[in-house]
Amino acid sequence: MQIFVPGKILVSGEHSVVYGEPAIAVGLGMGIRVEARSNASKSSNPGNELIRKAFEVAKVSFDEVQVSIESQLPEGLGMGSSAAVAAAVIKALYAFKGNDLSQEKLFNLVMECERVAHGNPSGVDPAAVVYGGLIWFVKGRPIEFLKLNHQVDLLLIDTGKPKESTKEMVEYVGTREKKTIKNLGLITFKIRRALEQRSGLVDLINESGKLLEELGIASEKTIALSQELRILGAGVKVSGAGGRKDGSGILLVVSPDLDTIARFADKNKLTFWRTNIGSN
Ligand code: PMV
Repeated sequence: MQIFVPGKILVSGEHSVVYGEPAIAVGLGMGIRVEARSNASKSSNPGNELIRKAFEVAKVSFDEVQVSIESQLPEGLGMGSSAAVAAAVIKALYAFKGNDLSQEKLFNLVMECERVAHGNPSGVDPAAVVYGGLIWFVKGRPIEFLKLNHQVDLLLIDTGKPKESTKEMVEYVGTREKKTIKNLGLITFKIRRALEQRSGLVDLINESGKLLEELGIASEKTIALSQELRILGAGVKVSGAGGRKDGSGILLVVSPDLDTIARFADKNKLTFWRTNIGSN
């Protein structure tokens, strides 16, 4: 049986979510597919630490089961690749064994795997990939599903893979001004309202983007690109942990005229994806 787990992007709340502020995440159409089958060769300890941990928490031995993993998610860009791989492998192993697995249990097992990769994750990535859809997440609290009765289109622009890991970026933010974190929390509440009421989103995404730049999670070249996009009328922010030295992962872009932004991205040979919030 093939298991599919979606990737995710953060609409708002990266970093501030670590300090108890809310975050908004949305599941993507792109994700990870995993298939588990009997391990005929009786060998091969998977080299990858994350996959080893997924087997460990699922209490399955590599001698017994083999998994094949197919990923549509670029790694290290903040699209939830590590949480989605862990969730898909664990789900596939449980399905192979014929064991039941609740979403809550899967979330807890993915959290254990994320701790290996990230140290002290807030849990927003595991929640986003396990539950999918559009979620409101506060660390340690039950998640809330947000319902929109319209669709918000987004462009996700690849600014390049960050040189820093999520763990390093979270540690860096730990050294920064806590007032910016509080302000990011407030913006997340406003972004929720703007999404629900379908107004003011472009300005709020820019406010959030500029606060994240102030926090220091965007590189100079990401800030320059964001400014060019803002001149074209877009709302732009880094989505995910970000990166300071070179690439900063995904830029989330909203605009009343996304075609213009897509043409700009094409012309500048930027990789981008179109997605949306609020559809199924
Ligand atoms: O690893 P990313 O880019 O998906 O970012 C995770 C979000 C952070 O807030 C930066 C970390 C966390 O654990 O919430």
